[in-house]
Order: sequence, then structure tokens, then C-alpha cells
Amino acid sequence: MSILNTPFTLPNGSILPNRLAKSAMSENLGDKYHAPTPTLINAYYEWVKGGAGLLITGNVMVDKMALGEPQNVVVEDRKHFDLLQQWAKTTQGSDTHLWAQINHPGRQAIGAINKEVFAPSAVPLKLKGASAMFKTPKPLSETQILDIIDRFGNTAKILQDAGFTGVQIHSAHGYLSSQFLSPITNKRTDKWGGSLENRARFVLEVYRNIRKKVGAAFPIGIKINSADFQRGGFTEAESMEVLQLLSAEGIDLIEISGGSYERPAMMGSAKKQSTLEREAYFMEYIEKARKITSKPLMLTGGFRTVSVMENAIQSNQLDIIGLARPFAVLPNLANHIFTGKLSSLPSPNPKIGIKMLDEVGSMEILWYELQIKRIGEGKKPDFKMSAYKALGHTLKLSLRKAFRKN
Ligand SMILES: Cc1cc2nc3c(=O)[nH]c(=O)nc-3n(C[C@H](O)[C@H](O)[C@H](O)COP(=O)(O)O)c2cc1C
Repeated sequence: MSILNTPFTLPNGSILPNRLAKSAMSENLGDKYHAPTPTLINAYYEWVKGGAGLLITGNVMVDKMALGEPQNVVVEDRKHFDLLQQWAKTTQGSDTHLWAQINHPGRQAIGAINKEVFAPSAVPLKLKGASAMFKTPKPLSETQILDIIDRFGNTAKILQDAGFTGVQIHSAHGYLSSQFLSPITNKRTDKWGGSLENRARFVLEVYRNIRKKVGAAFPIGIKINSADFQRGGFTEAESMEVLQLLSAEGIDLIEISGGSYERPAMMGSAKKQSTLEREAYFMEYIEKARKITSKPLMLTGGFRTVSVMENAIQSNQLDIIGLARPFAVLPNLANHIFTGKLSSLPSPNPKIGIKMLDEVGSMEILWYELQIKRIGEGKKPDFKMSAYKALGHTLKLSLRKAFRKN
């Protein structure tokens, strides 16, 4: 039997039935009220059937006035509680965990679909020609910061009541929490900026607010950057310090990733030769992290070979293997691995040939989002789908949202 098919017990006693997790992938499948659609819910039925022990949802936003994508699901009140319950019920009859990833985009909010954009400081994104898609953000006031922290807790509590078995704070990939951590995007001189202690205050307060509302037994995970991979950004040493702070607070699962829209290391852009040989992009970091925290570790980014994943667990480098893109084209990959049918995973790299779009990894994300839509529609993956189709689909959704008025 594969070691990947062995259970893992979190420190709070929750049991993940195996070591494979679907990492968060923004599905962009909310309706015009940002509630889950039947297509989104169906995709989760398929993933539950597929056998992964932990499914982490695509980012669920805490504020409908701050969207990363036009069809993000937003949870800020109980208006669509029945649909959230239906989403959570997809795991019924299985021991699969379903955790919702909670997020606020900060400056990575597409300009056309957000009336105003707020971030720790007024530092615009630099995206080689695509910068025009984003507005220069306005600095958040202290009152706004406290409101967002409270929103994270509120969203988590609603999701817990709806039946989700855990939540994950998105503190990676250049979104708001990650913007607070990075000295490039956080130029504040008040208690939310400057020293690492101050820059980490936001994520710690988010954690505390959620914990206060959901209680000790409910798993709270975090996805955090090993580094920004930018000069003057959040460093590996700082990331380690934040891991220690979160561990002392009682975080239940730490997922490691890296990068941002400006430097998409999470999609494999920062690969060194040593990384290519070891497959997973942030393996060196996680080995160091293992020495400074006793909390469970999950690693996401680049895993494609079953024996490499098995070795990582066998040698106790980490506890949970995170996979994203392969799950969008092969929803039942966990079962296939457990029955020995698969020894490596597919992960196409669709491109459109426009360097600036291909480089930021956004084309690939849009292509994979459409594959997730196909899963929800009961269709097979379309490996031949053109990246232009994915681009066209997203432009259509963005325009529709922009003209509907925010
Ligand atoms: C379509 C798509 C959407 C994504 N959305 C999110 C997201 O909402 N939250 C997040 O933390 N990561 C997101 N990611 C990044 C993945 O979770 C993961 O870190 C990345 O794809 C690397 O893992 P992989 O090599 O197994 O694909 C997304 C990736 C893709 C392809």
C-alpha cells in the first residue's frame, strides 16, 4: 500500500484520511451574487469521489467590494447559507475534509471589477504591460484593517456553521495578508508596518479573530510564502519567524508556497536546477521549516511523480502533499494513485504566445479554471483546449461584471 494512503492526525485530533490534498484553486464559479453555483458544487462531488483526504476550496473572499476575480464566491453574511450547506454536504458519507480558503486580494484586485482598491500602502503592481489591469491602491485606515480582520473571523464562522470542516487563511501569493508581510508592499509607519513584528500583526490578528469565533477544535490552516522571490521582499528568514509565531498561537496546518502576481514562483517560475531535480519548488525551505516548528507541514507546487511524493512522506520531510493543476484535469487522481494505476501526473502548460501574459502564469490559471468548470459540468478534461478560449471566457466575465456595476 502507498504511504500516501495512510491517515494523518492533526494536533487537535482531526483525522485526514490520507496524505493527498487538493490545494486551493480559484474556481471562478460563483453566480452574480457571488454565491456557489451548482457547477461549483458538482465539481466538489467529483473531487470527493476522487479520494483526496483534504480538499481546500478556491479562495472565498471576505468582502464583495474586494474581488480577485469576477465570479469569486464571497461569504460576508448568511444570505446564501443554504448553498454553502449544499457545498459542504458534498463530503457526506466520506471522511474527506473540506476546508474553505479565505482571502482578501488587497492590491491584486482587478481594477475593472472593483470600484476602489485598498492595500497596506499605495504601491501599485508592476506587471510588464498588464499593470493597467490594476489600480494604484489606497492605503487602508486602521478602522478598515480592523474591519477586514473581523471579516475573516465572520466568514470562517459562517463556513463552520455551514458544515465545512476547517478553514485556511490565504497569506501567500501577494494577496492582502502577504502584502502586509512584505516590505515592498507594506510601507506603513504605524503598528501595522515596519518591523517584522508589526508586519506580521495582521495575519496574527486574523488568526486570533478566527480562533475566537470557531473554537479550539476547528482546524485553521495557513498558506504562506516561503519568500516573495523579489529583492527587498519578504525573506525566507522572515517567513521562518512568522511560522514560529503562528505555531506558538496554535495553527493546525502550514501549507508552504511562494511568489505573487509579480513573481509567480508558485507556478514554477523560480525553478533552480536543484529544484528541477527534486520536483517540488519549495522543498529546501520545508526541510528547514521542519526543524523550527512541530506543526504539520503541507507542501504545494510542482509534485508530479508518485515516488517523489512517497519519499517526501517516508523521509518525514513533510506530512501532506498538496497538488493543484493535476486535480483540475484528473479529479480522481488520488484513487488512481492508491490503486497503483498512476505513477506520474499530467500537468499541461498551455500558452498563448504573448510573453507578458504567459510569464505571469495567468493564462495557465485561466485554462485550468475552465477545466474545473468542465468537471462541474460532468465533462471530461479537454487537453486540447486553446489558451485563447480561456482568455476570452475570462474577459467576457470581467466585462459582464464591470457593466453590471459593483
Ligand atoms: C486555476 C488555478 C487557480 C488557483 N487559485 C488559487 C487560490 O485560489 N488560492 C491559492 O492559494 N492558490 C491558488 N492557485 C495556486 C495553487 O494552489 C498551487 O499553489 C499552484 O498551482 C502550484 O501547485 P501545482 O504545481 O500542484 O499546480 C491556483 C492555481 C491554479 C492553476
